[in-house]
Amino acid sequence: MTSITTKPATIQANTTDPLALIDVDHVRFFVGNAKQAAYFYAHTFGFQIEQFSDLTTGSRTEASYLLTQGNIRLLLTSGLTPDHPANEEVRRFGDGVKDVALTVEDAVSAYERAIANGGESAYEPIETRDEHGVVVRAGIKTYGRAIHSFVSRHGDYALPKLKQGGIFMPGFKKTVGFGINDYNKKHPCGLKFVDHLVGNVEEGKMNHWVKWYETVLEFKMFKHFDDKDISTEYSALMSKVMASGNNLIKMPINEPAEGKKKSQILEYLEWHDMTPGVQHLALRTDDELHSVAELRGRGVDFLNIPDTYYKEVWQRVEKLGWEVKEDHEKIRDLGILIDADDEGYLLQLFTKPLQDRPTLFFEIICRRGSQSFGKGNFKALFTALELEQERRGNL
Ligand SMILES: [Fe+2]
Repeated sequence: MTSITTKPATIQANTTDPLALIDVDHVRFFVGNAKQAAYFYAHTFGFQIEQFSDLTTGSRTEASYLLTQGNIRLLLTSGLTPDHPANEEVRRFGDGVKDVALTVEDAVSAYERAIANGGESAYEPIETRDEHGVVVRAGIKTYGRAIHSFVSRHGDYALPKLKQGGIFMPGFKKTVGFGINDYNKKHPCGLKFVDHLVGNVEEGKMNHWVKWYETVLEFKMFKHFDDKDISTEYSALMSKVMASGNNLIKMPINEPAEGKKKSQILEYLEWHDMTPGVQHLALRTDDELHSVAELRGRGVDFLNIPDTYYKEVWQRVEKLGWEVKEDHEKIRDLGILIDADDEGYLLQLFTKPLQDRPTLFFEIICRRGSQSFGKGNFKALFTALELEQERRGNL
């Protein structure tokens, strides 16, 4: 039997840094119809529809589906009642990311530390326990509609068990009868973990949120060869990258900048009720060509890169001292982007928006030494994005 109390009974003694992050616990989406969204992400991106919680499991207010692939856990939630917050947020923002949840040793200590650091509570600690174990969660507000939950897990709900197919938390059950799960096991897309997660904030607010991540979550500015503002006539955005102490999670923060045409960041904000939120999740693969080919075969709609891009890209990478080992012709056929820095190169590709509004999208990224984010592709991308914005009448 599941019991939910607001005050945790037992808190594990914590002598270490309360904000030390163990993992990205999960990324929670608020969506209009979790059951249907689960099918979309399973069919197009190869996620396992692994667990669920809904009326049939005793959840009276919301339905959630846990989708997994590698070490990525997406939690899709829909409200079942008119006053559920997911319904109001879907009305304002469409489907999108609500919560970037972080596994910590002790959710209550992490929450208290973040509050002491000036963070604002999203929700107070909630303990959910049954005879198998306990999950404690507590949330703080970050930019716009997004929050960070701290999650600590014990007993059968501990993170190592969850990674091996254990139950997500009390109240969840394993799914049966989703044929797509068998197909996905036979045809893996190869997505491994969340490489980075990008937020769009309002113009002039980037440095505010950089400071917020420094003080509240005790993140640092991520150091790499170009860790300075990115602002070109083409990119029409400025971006700084924040990272947790152990670099477990990197969170670039974008703000719109003056460009020749309307910034893609401003377009996002205009279709997101002028409210900041998560712009994209970059999912890491060890084999970009395989992943992109599989995803294209499943119908994932990627940004189209003009063929002229491949006229100069190999030289650009070579100039930095790297040779792209992957088949150049296949890279061009699959429309994959390449960038390089002092440490190596990377392969990346961006999907078109994943819902009707031009808001959230995914990036598929493979790193060959490079720790940057594809700055060298901004010019080519801007051209592609501008074409898409024009098609949407948003330029
Ligand atoms: Fe990215």
